[in-house]
Amino acid sequence: MNTKLDDFLNQAHQLDSADGLAPFRDEFVIADDALLYLDGNSLGRMPKATRQMFGDVLDHQWADRLIRSWGENWYDAPTRIGDKIAPIIGAQPGEVIVGDSTTVNLFKLVTAALSLRPGQTKIISDVLNFPTDLYTIQGVIDLLGQDHELILLPADDGIAISMEAYKAALDDDVALVTFSTPTFKSGYLHEIEAITRLAHDAGSLVLWDFSHGVGSVPIDVTNWGIDFAVGCTYKYLNGGPGSPAFLYVREQHRKEANARPWGWWGHESPFAFDLDYRAAESARQFLVGTPPVLSMLAVEPAVDLVLRAGVDAIREKAMAMGEFFVEMFDAVLAEVGFTLGSPRDPHRRGSHISLRHPEGYRICRVLIEEEQVIPDFREPDNIRLGFAPLYTRYVDCVEAVERLHRVVADRRYEAYDTHRTDIT
Ligand SMILES: Cc1ncc(COP(=O)(O)O)c(C=O)c1O
Repeated sequence: MNTKLDDFLNQAHQLDSADGLAPFRDEFVIADDALLYLDGNSLGRMPKATRQMFGDVLDHQWADRLIRSWGENWYDAPTRIGDKIAPIIGAQPGEVIVGDSTTVNLFKLVTAALSLRPGQTKIISDVLNFPTDLYTIQGVIDLLGQDHELILLPADDGIAISMEAYKAALDDDVALVTFSTPTFKSGYLHEIEAITRLAHDAGSLVLWDFSHGVGSVPIDVTNWGIDFAVGCTYKYLNGGPGSPAFLYVREQHRKEANARPWGWWGHESPFAFDLDYRAAESARQFLVGTPPVLSMLAVEPAVDLVLRAGVDAIREKAMAMGEFFVEMFDAVLAEVGFTLGSPRDPHRRGSHISLRHPEGYRICRVLIEEEQVIPDFREPDNIRLGFAPLYTRYVDCVEAVERLHRVVADRRYEAYDTHRTDIT
Protein backbone atom coordinates (compact mmCIF):
# COMPACT_ATOMS: atom_id res chain seq x y z
CA MET A 1 0.00 0.00 0.00
CA ASN A 2 1.09 3.57 -0.76
CA THR A 3 2.71 4.73 2.51
CA LYS A 4 0.79 8.00 2.36
CA LEU A 5 -2.34 5.91 2.82
CA ASP A 6 -1.18 4.09 5.98
CA ASP A 7 -2.73 6.64 8.32
CA PHE A 8 -5.92 6.71 6.30
CA LEU A 9 -6.20 2.95 6.56
CA ASN A 10 -5.85 3.07 10.36
CA GLN A 11 -8.47 5.79 10.52
CA ALA A 12 -10.75 3.81 8.22
CA HIS A 13 -10.65 0.79 10.53
CA GLN A 14 -11.59 3.01 13.47
CA LEU A 15 -14.36 4.76 11.55
CA ASP A 16 -15.81 1.43 10.40
CA SER A 17 -15.86 0.02 13.92
CA ALA A 18 -17.58 3.16 15.28
CA ASP A 19 -20.09 3.27 12.39
CA GLY A 20 -23.69 2.84 13.55
CA LEU A 21 -24.79 1.88 10.02
CA ALA A 22 -22.12 -0.81 9.58
CA PRO A 23 -24.51 -3.69 10.50
CA PHE A 24 -26.67 -2.81 7.48
CA ARG A 25 -24.01 -4.21 5.15
CA ASP A 26 -25.05 -7.65 6.32
CA GLU A 27 -28.60 -6.96 5.06
CA PHE A 28 -27.32 -7.05 1.46
CA VAL A 29 -26.24 -9.93 -0.73
CA ILE A 30 -22.48 -9.52 -1.10
CA ALA A 31 -21.64 -12.19 -3.65
CA ASP A 32 -17.94 -11.28 -3.78
CA ASP A 33 -16.44 -9.65 -0.70
CA ALA A 34 -13.26 -8.64 -2.60
CA LEU A 35 -15.21 -6.54 -5.10
CA LEU A 36 -15.16 -2.81 -4.34
CA TYR A 37 -18.62 -1.86 -5.55
CA LEU A 38 -18.76 1.92 -5.87
CA ASP A 39 -21.69 2.19 -8.24
CA GLY A 40 -24.63 2.17 -5.84
CA ASN A 41 -25.46 5.60 -7.25
CA SER A 42 -26.36 3.81 -10.48
CA LEU A 43 -27.66 0.42 -9.33
CA GLY A 44 -27.93 -0.31 -5.63
CA ARG A 45 -27.01 -3.72 -4.22
CA MET A 46 -29.64 -6.39 -3.71
CA PRO A 47 -31.12 -6.58 -0.19
CA LYS A 48 -31.34 -10.11 1.24
CA ALA A 49 -34.96 -9.36 2.11
CA THR A 50 -35.71 -8.82 -1.59
CA ARG A 51 -34.35 -12.22 -2.55
CA GLN A 52 -36.36 -13.82 0.23
CA MET A 53 -39.51 -11.93 -0.78
CA PHE A 54 -39.20 -13.13 -4.37
CA GLY A 55 -39.42 -16.71 -3.15
CA ASP A 56 -42.88 -15.93 -1.79
CA VAL A 57 -43.89 -13.75 -4.75
CA LEU A 58 -43.00 -16.42 -7.31
CA ASP A 59 -43.98 -19.63 -5.49
CA HIS A 60 -47.00 -18.38 -3.56
CA GLN A 61 -48.39 -15.14 -4.98
CA TRP A 62 -47.91 -15.93 -8.66
CA ALA A 63 -47.69 -19.74 -8.89
CA ASP A 64 -50.37 -20.52 -6.32
CA ARG A 65 -52.65 -17.54 -5.72
CA LEU A 66 -52.52 -16.48 -9.37
CA ILE A 67 -54.94 -13.69 -10.23
CA ARG A 68 -56.26 -13.57 -6.67
CA SER A 69 -52.97 -11.88 -5.74
CA TRP A 70 -54.11 -8.71 -7.47
CA GLY A 71 -56.54 -8.13 -4.64
CA GLU A 72 -54.28 -9.59 -1.96
CA ASN A 73 -51.04 -7.71 -2.59
CA TRP A 74 -50.59 -6.24 -6.05
CA TYR A 75 -53.33 -3.75 -6.89
CA ASP A 76 -52.54 -1.29 -4.12
CA ALA A 77 -48.73 -1.66 -4.45
CA PRO A 78 -48.24 1.69 -6.32
CA THR A 79 -49.84 3.66 -3.48
CA ARG A 80 -48.72 1.38 -0.64
CA ILE A 81 -45.06 1.64 -1.64
CA GLY A 82 -45.58 5.33 -2.50
CA ASP A 83 -46.74 5.89 1.07
CA LYS A 84 -43.53 4.28 2.31
CA ILE A 85 -41.40 6.55 0.13
CA ALA A 86 -43.43 9.60 1.28
CA PRO A 87 -41.62 10.09 4.63
CA ILE A 88 -38.24 9.69 2.90
CA ILE A 89 -38.99 12.86 0.90
CA GLY A 90 -41.13 14.62 3.51
CA ALA A 91 -44.42 14.07 1.62
CA GLN A 92 -47.87 13.38 3.06
CA PRO A 93 -49.59 10.00 2.72
CA GLY A 94 -51.39 9.80 -0.62
CA GLU A 95 -49.06 12.22 -2.41
CA VAL A 96 -46.58 9.68 -3.80
CA ILE A 97 -47.11 6.81 -6.21
CA VAL A 98 -44.71 4.30 -7.71
CA GLY A 99 -45.00 3.35 -11.36
CA ASP A 100 -43.48 3.81 -14.81
CA SER A 101 -39.97 5.08 -15.40
CA THR A 102 -38.58 8.40 -14.20
CA THR A 103 -38.71 9.61 -17.80
CA VAL A 104 -42.40 8.78 -18.22
CA ASN A 105 -43.17 10.38 -14.86
CA LEU A 106 -41.31 13.50 -15.94
CA PHE A 107 -43.55 13.65 -19.01
CA LYS A 108 -46.66 13.40 -16.83
CA LEU A 109 -45.49 16.18 -14.54
CA VAL A 110 -44.08 18.57 -17.14
CA THR A 111 -47.41 18.46 -18.98
CA ALA A 112 -49.34 18.80 -15.70
CA ALA A 113 -47.23 21.80 -14.62
CA LEU A 114 -47.58 23.60 -17.95
CA SER A 115 -51.35 23.07 -17.86
CA LEU A 116 -51.37 25.02 -14.57
CA ARG A 117 -49.46 27.98 -16.03
CA PRO A 118 -51.19 28.78 -19.32
CA GLY A 119 -49.68 31.78 -21.08
CA GLN A 120 -46.29 31.47 -19.33
CA THR A 121 -43.83 30.22 -21.88
CA LYS A 122 -40.38 29.72 -20.34
CA ILE A 123 -39.00 26.54 -18.81
CA ILE A 124 -35.76 26.97 -16.88
CA SER A 125 -33.31 24.14 -16.36
CA ASP A 126 -29.54 23.80 -16.35
CA VAL A 127 -26.77 22.11 -18.31
CA LEU A 128 -26.09 19.70 -15.45
CA ASN A 129 -29.53 18.13 -15.78
CA PHE A 130 -29.77 14.50 -16.84
CA PRO A 131 -30.34 14.27 -20.62
CA THR A 132 -33.62 12.33 -20.35
CA ASP A 133 -35.11 15.26 -18.42
CA LEU A 134 -34.13 17.63 -21.19
CA TYR A 135 -35.33 15.32 -23.96
CA THR A 136 -38.68 15.04 -22.17
CA ILE A 137 -39.04 18.81 -22.00
CA GLN A 138 -38.00 19.22 -25.64
CA GLY A 139 -40.59 16.59 -26.60
CA VAL A 140 -43.36 18.27 -24.62
CA ILE A 141 -42.54 21.64 -26.20
CA ASP A 142 -42.76 19.99 -29.61
CA LEU A 143 -46.06 18.32 -28.71
CA LEU A 144 -47.58 21.58 -27.49
CA GLY A 145 -46.80 23.41 -30.70
CA GLN A 146 -43.45 25.07 -29.97
CA ASP A 147 -44.94 27.87 -27.87
CA HIS A 148 -42.57 27.22 -24.99
CA GLU A 149 -38.86 27.87 -24.72
CA LEU A 150 -36.33 25.82 -22.74
CA ILE A 151 -33.58 27.95 -21.19
CA LEU A 152 -30.52 26.11 -19.88
CA LEU A 153 -28.46 27.84 -17.20
CA PRO A 154 -24.68 27.40 -17.59
CA ALA A 155 -22.24 25.77 -15.18
CA ASP A 156 -19.06 27.78 -15.58
CA ASP A 157 -16.87 25.22 -13.81
CA GLY A 158 -18.86 22.20 -15.04
CA ILE A 159 -19.68 21.42 -11.41
CA ALA A 160 -22.27 23.85 -10.03
CA ILE A 161 -24.89 26.39 -11.07
CA SER A 162 -24.76 29.76 -9.29
CA MET A 163 -27.76 31.10 -7.40
CA GLU A 164 -27.26 34.35 -9.32
CA ALA A 165 -27.98 32.50 -12.56
CA TYR A 166 -31.34 31.38 -11.14
CA LYS A 167 -32.17 34.84 -9.86
CA ALA A 168 -31.34 36.43 -13.20
CA ALA A 169 -33.36 33.88 -15.21
CA LEU A 170 -36.60 34.16 -13.26
CA ASP A 171 -39.38 36.44 -14.43
CA ASP A 172 -43.15 36.28 -14.65
CA ASP A 173 -43.04 34.45 -17.98
CA VAL A 174 -41.43 31.37 -16.39
CA ALA A 175 -43.90 28.49 -16.09
CA LEU A 176 -41.58 25.85 -14.68
CA VAL A 177 -38.15 25.50 -13.11
CA THR A 178 -36.78 21.97 -13.17
CA PHE A 179 -33.45 20.27 -12.48
CA SER A 180 -32.12 17.04 -11.11
CA THR A 181 -30.31 17.15 -7.82
CA PRO A 182 -27.74 16.02 -6.86
CA THR A 183 -26.58 16.22 -10.46
CA PHE A 184 -25.62 12.98 -12.13
CA LYS A 185 -22.06 13.91 -13.09
CA SER A 186 -20.70 16.31 -10.51
CA GLY A 187 -23.02 15.36 -7.64
CA TYR A 188 -23.87 19.04 -7.10
CA LEU A 189 -26.67 19.48 -4.58
CA HIS A 190 -28.68 22.60 -5.46
CA GLU A 191 -29.99 25.00 -2.83
CA ILE A 192 -33.37 23.38 -3.28
CA GLU A 193 -35.42 25.29 -0.74
CA ALA A 194 -34.06 28.70 -1.74
CA ILE A 195 -34.58 28.11 -5.46
CA THR A 196 -38.10 26.81 -4.84
CA ARG A 197 -38.90 30.04 -3.00
CA LEU A 198 -37.40 32.20 -5.75
CA ALA A 199 -39.36 30.32 -8.40
CA HIS A 200 -42.62 30.67 -6.50
CA ASP A 201 -42.02 34.38 -5.93
CA ALA A 202 -41.73 34.75 -9.70
CA GLY A 203 -45.01 32.86 -10.23
CA SER A 204 -43.43 29.63 -11.48
CA LEU A 205 -43.83 26.00 -10.43
CA VAL A 206 -40.95 23.64 -9.63
CA LEU A 207 -40.29 20.03 -10.58
CA TRP A 208 -37.25 18.38 -9.05
CA ASP A 209 -35.75 15.07 -10.18
CA PHE A 210 -34.45 13.44 -7.00
CA SER A 211 -33.05 10.31 -8.66
CA HIS A 212 -29.70 10.81 -6.91
CA GLY A 213 -31.26 12.34 -3.79
CA VAL A 214 -33.97 9.96 -2.65
CA GLY A 215 -32.57 7.82 0.15
CA SER A 216 -29.30 9.74 0.21
CA VAL A 217 -30.07 13.35 1.20
CA PRO A 218 -32.80 14.70 3.48
CA ILE A 219 -35.68 16.11 1.42
CA ASP A 220 -38.72 17.94 2.74
CA VAL A 221 -41.14 18.48 -0.12
CA THR A 222 -43.91 19.66 2.23
CA ASN A 223 -42.04 22.34 4.13
CA TRP A 224 -39.95 23.42 1.16
CA GLY A 225 -43.15 23.98 -0.81
CA ILE A 226 -42.17 21.69 -3.68
CA ASP A 227 -44.85 21.27 -6.34
CA PHE A 228 -43.73 18.13 -8.17
CA ALA A 229 -40.95 15.56 -7.90
CA VAL A 230 -39.81 12.31 -9.45
CA GLY A 231 -36.92 9.95 -8.91
CA CYS A 232 -35.42 6.54 -9.60
CA THR A 233 -35.82 3.75 -7.07
CA TYR A 234 -32.92 1.64 -8.34
CA LYS A 235 -30.11 3.83 -7.04
CA TYR A 236 -29.89 4.59 -3.30
CA LEU A 237 -33.29 2.93 -2.70
CA ASN A 238 -31.87 -0.39 -4.01
CA GLY A 239 -35.09 -1.38 -5.81
CA GLY A 240 -33.33 -3.41 -8.53
CA PRO A 241 -32.61 -2.96 -12.24
CA GLY A 242 -35.36 -0.95 -13.94
CA SER A 243 -37.54 -0.77 -10.83
CA PRO A 244 -40.37 1.74 -11.34
CA ALA A 245 -39.84 5.34 -10.30
CA PHE A 246 -41.72 7.42 -7.76
CA LEU A 247 -43.81 10.48 -8.56
CA TYR A 248 -44.86 13.16 -6.06
CA VAL A 249 -47.58 15.73 -6.61
CA ARG A 250 -48.53 18.26 -3.97
CA GLU A 251 -52.16 17.56 -3.04
CA GLN A 252 -53.37 21.04 -4.02
CA HIS A 253 -51.98 20.55 -7.58
CA ARG A 254 -53.34 17.04 -7.87
CA LYS A 255 -56.82 18.49 -7.69
CA GLU A 256 -56.16 21.07 -10.44
CA ALA A 257 -53.53 19.53 -12.71
CA ASN A 258 -54.41 17.66 -15.84
CA ALA A 259 -52.47 14.41 -15.61
CA ARG A 260 -51.48 12.85 -18.97
CA PRO A 261 -51.40 10.31 -20.44
CA TRP A 262 -54.83 9.03 -19.47
CA GLY A 263 -55.17 5.31 -18.92
CA TRP A 264 -57.44 2.92 -17.09
CA TRP A 265 -55.21 2.76 -13.99
CA GLY A 266 -55.69 6.49 -13.52
CA HIS A 267 -59.46 6.22 -13.90
CA GLU A 268 -61.73 6.85 -10.93
CA SER A 269 -63.05 3.32 -11.22
CA PRO A 270 -60.94 1.08 -13.49
CA PHE A 271 -63.15 -1.95 -13.12
CA ALA A 272 -66.30 -0.07 -14.11
CA PHE A 273 -64.86 -0.16 -17.63
CA ASP A 274 -66.55 3.15 -18.47
CA LEU A 275 -66.16 4.33 -22.03
CA ASP A 276 -65.18 7.84 -20.88
CA TYR A 277 -62.19 8.87 -18.80
CA ARG A 278 -62.72 10.36 -15.36
CA ALA A 279 -59.58 10.98 -13.32
CA ALA A 280 -59.27 9.26 -9.93
CA GLU A 281 -59.69 11.57 -6.95
CA SER A 282 -56.25 10.63 -5.62
CA ALA A 283 -52.64 10.37 -6.74
CA ARG A 284 -53.71 7.21 -8.56
CA GLN A 285 -54.70 9.54 -11.41
CA PHE A 286 -50.98 9.67 -12.26
CA LEU A 287 -50.95 5.93 -12.95
CA VAL A 288 -51.49 4.89 -16.54
CA GLY A 289 -51.55 1.14 -17.23
CA THR A 290 -50.80 -2.16 -15.48
CA PRO A 291 -47.52 -1.78 -13.58
CA PRO A 292 -44.57 -4.21 -13.80
CA VAL A 293 -45.57 -5.99 -10.60
CA LEU A 294 -42.40 -8.00 -10.03
CA SER A 295 -40.12 -4.96 -10.36
CA MET A 296 -42.47 -2.89 -8.27
CA LEU A 297 -42.67 -5.35 -5.40
CA ALA A 298 -38.87 -5.40 -5.22
CA VAL A 299 -38.91 -1.75 -4.18
CA GLU A 300 -40.77 -2.44 -0.94
CA PRO A 301 -38.26 -4.41 1.19
CA ALA A 302 -35.51 -2.12 -0.07
CA VAL A 303 -37.38 1.01 1.03
CA ASP A 304 -38.06 -0.65 4.39
CA LEU A 305 -34.28 -0.86 4.91
CA VAL A 306 -33.83 2.86 4.21
CA LEU A 307 -36.68 3.68 6.59
CA ARG A 308 -35.06 1.59 9.31
CA ALA A 309 -31.64 3.21 8.84
CA GLY A 310 -33.05 6.76 8.54
CA VAL A 311 -32.02 9.26 5.88
CA ASP A 312 -30.36 11.58 8.43
CA ALA A 313 -27.97 8.85 9.53
CA ILE A 314 -27.34 7.87 5.90
CA ARG A 315 -26.57 11.47 5.00
CA GLU A 316 -24.27 11.98 7.98
CA LYS A 317 -22.18 8.97 7.00
CA ALA A 318 -22.13 9.91 3.30
CA MET A 319 -20.84 13.38 4.15
CA ALA A 320 -18.16 12.02 6.47
CA MET A 321 -17.12 9.44 3.88
CA GLY A 322 -17.00 12.07 1.14
CA GLU A 323 -14.78 14.28 3.29
CA PHE A 324 -12.52 11.33 4.07
CA PHE A 325 -12.27 10.56 0.35
CA VAL A 326 -11.49 14.17 -0.58
CA GLU A 327 -8.64 14.19 1.97
CA MET A 328 -7.18 11.11 0.28
CA PHE A 329 -7.71 12.73 -3.10
CA ASP A 330 -5.61 15.72 -1.98
CA ALA A 331 -2.95 13.47 -0.48
CA VAL A 332 -2.39 10.99 -3.31
CA LEU A 333 -4.67 11.35 -6.34
CA ALA A 334 -4.10 14.99 -7.30
CA GLU A 335 -0.40 14.23 -7.90
CA VAL A 336 -1.19 11.67 -10.64
CA GLY A 337 -3.34 14.06 -12.67
CA PHE A 338 -6.82 13.72 -11.18
CA THR A 339 -8.94 16.79 -10.55
CA LEU A 340 -12.05 16.92 -8.41
CA GLY A 341 -15.17 17.01 -10.57
CA SER A 342 -17.48 17.52 -7.58
CA PRO A 343 -18.03 20.41 -5.16
CA ARG A 344 -15.57 20.61 -2.26
CA ASP A 345 -18.25 21.81 0.12
CA PRO A 346 -19.83 18.64 1.57
CA HIS A 347 -23.14 20.47 2.04
CA ARG A 348 -23.37 21.04 -1.70
CA ARG A 349 -22.36 17.51 -2.67
CA GLY A 350 -24.47 14.36 -2.84
CA SER A 351 -23.31 10.80 -2.22
CA HIS A 352 -21.00 10.34 -5.18
CA ILE A 353 -17.76 12.00 -6.18
CA SER A 354 -16.50 12.50 -9.71
CA LEU A 355 -12.80 12.36 -10.41
CA ARG A 356 -11.71 13.87 -13.68
CA HIS A 357 -8.67 12.65 -15.59
CA PRO A 358 -7.77 12.93 -19.29
CA GLU A 359 -7.43 9.13 -19.30
CA GLY A 360 -10.60 8.65 -17.26
CA TYR A 361 -12.20 6.17 -19.64
CA ARG A 362 -9.20 3.85 -19.90
CA ILE A 363 -8.53 4.08 -16.15
CA CYS A 364 -12.09 3.00 -15.58
CA ARG A 365 -11.59 -0.01 -17.86
CA VAL A 366 -8.53 -1.18 -15.90
CA LEU A 367 -10.34 -0.77 -12.59
CA ILE A 368 -13.24 -2.92 -13.78
CA GLU A 369 -11.30 -5.53 -15.78
CA GLU A 370 -8.29 -6.03 -13.53
CA GLU A 371 -8.66 -4.32 -10.18
CA GLN A 372 -12.01 -5.51 -8.82
CA VAL A 373 -13.24 -1.92 -8.51
CA ILE A 374 -16.61 -0.93 -10.02
CA PRO A 375 -17.09 2.79 -10.56
CA ASP A 376 -18.69 4.13 -13.74
CA PHE A 377 -17.63 6.59 -16.39
CA ARG A 378 -19.43 9.68 -17.64
CA GLU A 379 -18.20 11.64 -20.66
CA PRO A 380 -15.88 13.27 -21.29
CA ASP A 381 -13.53 12.33 -18.44
CA ASN A 382 -15.45 11.66 -15.21
CA ILE A 383 -14.95 8.57 -13.11
CA ARG A 384 -17.88 8.44 -10.68
CA LEU A 385 -17.45 6.79 -7.31
CA GLY A 386 -20.63 6.27 -5.34
CA PHE A 387 -20.67 5.93 -1.58
CA ALA A 388 -23.74 4.05 -0.43
CA PRO A 389 -23.67 4.35 3.36
CA LEU A 390 -25.73 1.21 3.92
CA TYR A 391 -22.98 -1.03 2.55
CA THR A 392 -19.85 0.96 1.61
CA ARG A 393 -17.07 0.81 4.22
CA TYR A 394 -14.34 3.36 4.88
CA VAL A 395 -11.74 0.66 4.16
CA ASP A 396 -13.31 0.25 0.70
CA CYS A 397 -12.59 3.93 0.04
CA VAL A 398 -8.92 3.57 1.01
CA GLU A 399 -8.54 0.44 -1.12
CA ALA A 400 -10.18 2.20 -4.08
CA VAL A 401 -7.78 5.16 -3.80
CA GLU A 402 -4.81 2.76 -3.58
CA ARG A 403 -5.90 0.97 -6.77
CA LEU A 404 -6.73 4.21 -8.62
CA HIS A 405 -3.30 5.57 -7.79
CA ARG A 406 -1.52 2.37 -8.80
CA VAL A 407 -3.29 2.09 -12.16
CA VAL A 408 -2.33 5.64 -13.11
CA ALA A 409 1.20 5.68 -11.64
CA ASP A 410 2.04 2.47 -13.56
CA ARG A 411 0.25 3.76 -16.70
CA ARG A 412 -1.64 0.48 -16.90
CA TYR A 413 -4.45 2.12 -18.89
CA GLU A 414 -2.14 2.26 -21.93
CA ALA A 415 -2.99 -1.37 -22.68
CA TYR A 416 -6.62 -0.37 -23.44
CA ASP A 417 -8.05 1.49 -26.38
CA THR A 418 -10.26 4.54 -26.10
CA HIS A 419 -13.16 3.03 -28.03
CA ARG A 420 -16.23 3.27 -25.79
CA THR A 421 -18.21 0.17 -24.91
CA ASP A 422 -22.04 0.42 -25.27
CA ILE A 423 -22.49 0.94 -21.54
CA THR A 424 -20.02 2.99 -19.59
C1 LIG B 1 -31.21 12.27 -12.72
C2 LIG B 1 -31.71 11.11 -13.49
N1 LIG B 1 -32.95 11.14 -14.01
C3 LIG B 1 -33.44 10.09 -14.72
C4 LIG B 1 -32.68 8.96 -14.93
C5 LIG B 1 -33.15 7.80 -15.73
O1 LIG B 1 -34.51 7.67 -15.79
P1 LIG B 1 -35.20 6.34 -16.33
O2 LIG B 1 -35.42 5.46 -15.12
O3 LIG B 1 -36.44 6.81 -16.95
O4 LIG B 1 -34.28 5.67 -17.30
C6 LIG B 1 -31.40 8.89 -14.39
C7 LIG B 1 -30.59 7.67 -14.62
O5 LIG B 1 -29.51 7.52 -14.20
C8 LIG B 1 -30.90 9.99 -13.67
O6 LIG B 1 -29.67 9.97 -13.16
